[in-house]
Amino acid sequence: MLLEIDDVSCQFGGVMANQHVSFTMPEGEILGLIGPNGAGKTTLFNIIAGAIKPSSGRVRFQGKDITGMRPDECCRLGIARTFQVVRNFEDMTVIENVMVGAFLRSGREKEVRATARAILEWSGLAHRAEAQAVELTPPEKRRLEVARALSTRPKLLLLDEVMAGLTPPEAQSGSELVREIRARGISVLMVEHVMEVLMPLVDRVVMLNLGELLKDGKPADIVRDKDVIAAYLGDKYRASGV
Ligand SMILES: Nc1ncnc2c1ncn2[C@@H]1O[C@H](COP(=O)(O)OP(=O)(O)OP(=O)(O)O)[C@@H](O)[C@H]1O
Ligand SMILES: [Mg+2]
Repeated sequence: MLLEIDDVSCQFGGVMANQHVSFTMPEGEILGLIGPNGAGKTTLFNIIAGAIKPSSGRVRFQGKDITGMRPDECCRLGIARTFQVVRNFEDMTVIENVMVGAFLRSGREKEVRATARAILEWSGLAHRAEAQAVELTPPEKRRLEVARALSTRPKLLLLDEVMAGLTPPEAQSGSELVREIRARGISVLMVEHVMEVLMPLVDRVVMLNLGELLKDGKPADIVRDKDVIAAYLGDKYRASGV
């Protein structure tokens, strides 16, 4: 198993951001993580990526217990993530931003630059390589975050709302990139609120509600599930005809 979340809870003062969450993720999967605002999705990402230590429970990655490891240790093992609020190095160029990630695996600048260039090619940002990150359009900024995460050569990529605010054609293009990432052998765990984008893309969906795992199933079953509709999807999504 690539990732095992085993009875994970996370408490912030009086708030239980995650409560006894358990699920597993096999290698090669695109897994969607959904749930209302405040359900605990980003908290769980922070726990998997080592940014937060859970109050209880274990996280295993490729069979190894990584609970409480530092972010850089998790990244070295093969877990990369993007942030819900984009965090690029704005005063650096696009290729330099990607090189920052690639330096995790090599200290040789020439090699790092070549890795970064290759990733920019297949992630669709090569034409912006020498631009300053600050000059990018919002969808390009998101793409750059993904490219930098990819440059650390992950086995698991955590995407936190990377399609938020994109137009339908931009989201389509984002979905194609996610498929390409998986085709290259990287498993993807993604949080997304736009169901029209998420459901056609993922193999499976895990839903959190008030910190608890409410459902784990195939997209087709999730969108018809009474509990999921009541807690999250509501009439808006059914009305969209997906
Ligand atoms: N560092 C923190 N300190 C205190 N409370 C926190 C912290 N991080 C998250 N929380 C709380 O934990 C709960 C879960 O938050 P989280 O950000 O994980 O939700 P989310 O599912 O990602 O929501 P959204 O869809 O809005 O991004 C919320 O009640 C939030 O206010
Ligand atoms: Mg969040």
